Amino acid sequence: MNTIETENRLGIQFCIRQRIAIERGEGSYVWDESGREYLDFTSGWGVTCLGHSHPVITEAICSQAHKIIQNPNSGFTYSPCRASLMDLLHPVLPDSLSKLFFVNSGAEANDAAIKLARKITGRNKIVSTLRSFHGRTYNTLSVSTGTANTERYLPRMSGNQFVEFNDIDAIGHAIDDTTAAVIVEPVQGEGGVHIAQSGYLKEISRICKKHGALLIVDEIQTGFCRTGHFFAIDSEPESLQLDFLTMGKGIAGGFPFAAIAVSDAVNSQIELGDHGGTFCGNPLGCAVAAAVVHYLLQNRMAEEAKKKGKLVMELLQKLVRKYPDAILTARGAGLLCAIEMSTDAQLQLVVQNCLKRGLLVTPTRNNIIRLLPSLLVTESEIHQAVGILDRALSSD
Ligand SMILES: Cc1ncc(COP(=O)(O)O)c(C=O)c1O
Repeated sequence: MNTIETENRLGIQFCIRQRIAIERGEGSYVWDESGREYLDFTSGWGVTCLGHSHPVITEAICSQAHKIIQNPNSGFTYSPCRASLMDLLHPVLPDSLSKLFFVNSGAEANDAAIKLARKITGRNKIVSTLRSFHGRTYNTLSVSTGTANTERYLPRMSGNQFVEFNDIDAIGHAIDDTTAAVIVEPVQGEGGVHIAQSGYLKEISRICKKHGALLIVDEIQTGFCRTGHFFAIDSEPESLQLDFLTMGKGIAGGFPFAAIAVSDAVNSQIELGDHGGTFCGNPLGCAVAAAVVHYLLQNRMAEEAKKKGKLVMELLQKLVRKYPDAILTARGAGLLCAIEMSTDAQLQLVVQNCLKRGLLVTPTRNNIIRLLPSLLVTESEIHQAVGILDRALSSD
């Protein structure tokens, strides 16, 4: 069987794919079917925070799979792994949040938050930011914008409004007494690694409180040490007053899993049957997430990400100086790093050149190339990756 030919023939083609069939991975590297090695600076869209095949993850999967994968009556019964995960996560949540629920994907977490915010407030309007990305369900697409595929399913859910990111006056005008919630990323990941200015989220929180609107902070891409803090909002000097925190991606290091945390006030308005799902909080996902969270905390991975992110940025800044026509700027938070290319043609060329030389990077909108290595990436792997990027930029 030819993998690429079979997938092309039998699979729905939702995207243009790179013609490599990845068979296995270890640490920061993956190998294709022919045994060719690639340095993975994508982490599978920022998911494999401990790299590939990390023993903490494989052991958690195997040992839990030997016990139980899916509970009888799923969430209607209790699970020791779920309890342990709650116990681990609770102390690292922002002060205003007290209750947790586990779901299967980032979009599902945001979808549930939007749905609950509308129900609790009895209001319709969700305020979101331009270039944001919150998922691919109808609710979440309706609060995402900036690409052709977010515009294809118009009309959006009614009553949504988009404002410029980092513009406090714009969001201040948009939030009113009809607003159910604001949904915002501390760093817009898919939108091109745009970082919230210090105080921006705090001010949104204040305006939300004034109008009785709820604040949903989407840490799906930024959480679990990616930006050099356990959550990106931990970089704020004071704990942020928020109503929902949504989490995903790195939470279980590659196992599909996500979570929502809510405040006491939100929790007090939740009624039986408001949310749920067959696989929500399944013991396997909980066991893996607990192993990952434990590892991240024990090994101070937020500090590691900050330190290594600094090195990546220093090296990227050198590339900006060396290739001023090709690269407009470099920016990042921890190990969520990006270079902004001057044109789409430049971006395509560099991504292809990197692939040819054995480096996988993540292109995103607005001519951005993202570098999202594992949090365990070594300094020498960082030098290797930026070296390949340098050669990719210097050749046609
Ligand atoms: C900030 C943010 N929110 C939500 C999502 C959607 O998560 P998922 O793809 O797990 O549904 C993403 C995915 O890239 C994201 O970056």
